[in-house]
Amino acid sequence: MAARSASRYTARTADRHELYTIAVQAPEEDAAFFARWFQRYTGQPLRRFREDFCGTAHLAAAFVRRHAANRALGVDLDREVLDYARTRVLSALTPPQRRRIRLMRGDVRTVRPPAVQLIAAMNFSWFVFQREPDLDAYVRNAWRGLEPGGVLAMDLFGGAQSQVEMQERRRNRGFTYVWDQARFDPITHSILCHIHFEFRDGTRLRKAFTYDWRLWTIPELRAALQRSGFRDVHVLWEGTEARTGRGNGVWRRKDHGEADSAWLAYVVGRK
Ligand SMILES: C[S@@+](CC[C@H](N)C(=O)[O-])C[C@H]1O[C@@H](n2cnc3c(N)ncnc32)[C@H](O)[C@@H]1O
Repeated sequence: MAARSASRYTARTADRHELYTIAVQAPEEDAAFFARWFQRYTGQPLRRFREDFCGTAHLAAAFVRRHAANRALGVDLDREVLDYARTRVLSALTPPQRRRIRLMRGDVRTVRPPAVQLIAAMNFSWFVFQREPDLDAYVRNAWRGLEPGGVLAMDLFGGAQSQVEMQERRRNRGFTYVWDQARFDPITHSILCHIHFEFRDGTRLRKAFTYDWRLWTIPELRAALQRSGFRDVHVLWEGTEARTGRGNGVWRRKDHGEADSAWLAYVVGRK
């Protein structure tokens, strides 16, 4: 049964959002992480959450599933992806869960929804802002969108491997995910990336997603949060699994990191 469903993928019928979720996202783990970390950091339970650049809103959906008092808001510019979220992701929630989640179409630099305790900008989506004024506009608006004591968490990647043109392939059940760093400019730090999917029957979905980004650094992002009035701006750094040398999903506050060739981090700040 599993083998049959795993081999159903082919370029003609593949759903790129579904493949992206399988290959890239871990919404249940991320929702659990934010709930645990927020409680430890602020002493309060996390009940009001906003997912910026939400795409298919899997994280917001996972958050409302965790607790009957949890409310979530997802914000994205793209009508197509929000329609997908409504018909394919929110539709899997129970009616009470569905009533505790809201999706909003808008620019994260200008939206004005009710304030929340935590805003997360995940999977490097904020790299879309190429210039400092655009990044500042986003961070300032996030600050406005937080309750007093609220937290902004933005993830980023880096290391030597992020500054080369290369492809990385990862096999999943029934398909291969290809991360393609097609162009990197060391002067401007602009980086052009694609996601391709390849299937067992030899077909491919080339450029299923394209990202025209700027590869920002941790010091640049920390400075942006500080400029916008965030306090206690700091870094959560992922630990390393001894056996594989890969990230182990354990995030700790750190003032210094290791010179890993590929690292992930969160920069967080408190209102
Ligand atoms: C890489 S996807 C992220 C999907 C999902 N959040 C995740 O964690 O994988 C980036 C999303 O950001 C959205 N986006 C880009 N610029 C935006 C903006 N200025 N305001 C709101 N959403 C934006 C795009 O429409 C797209 O759905």
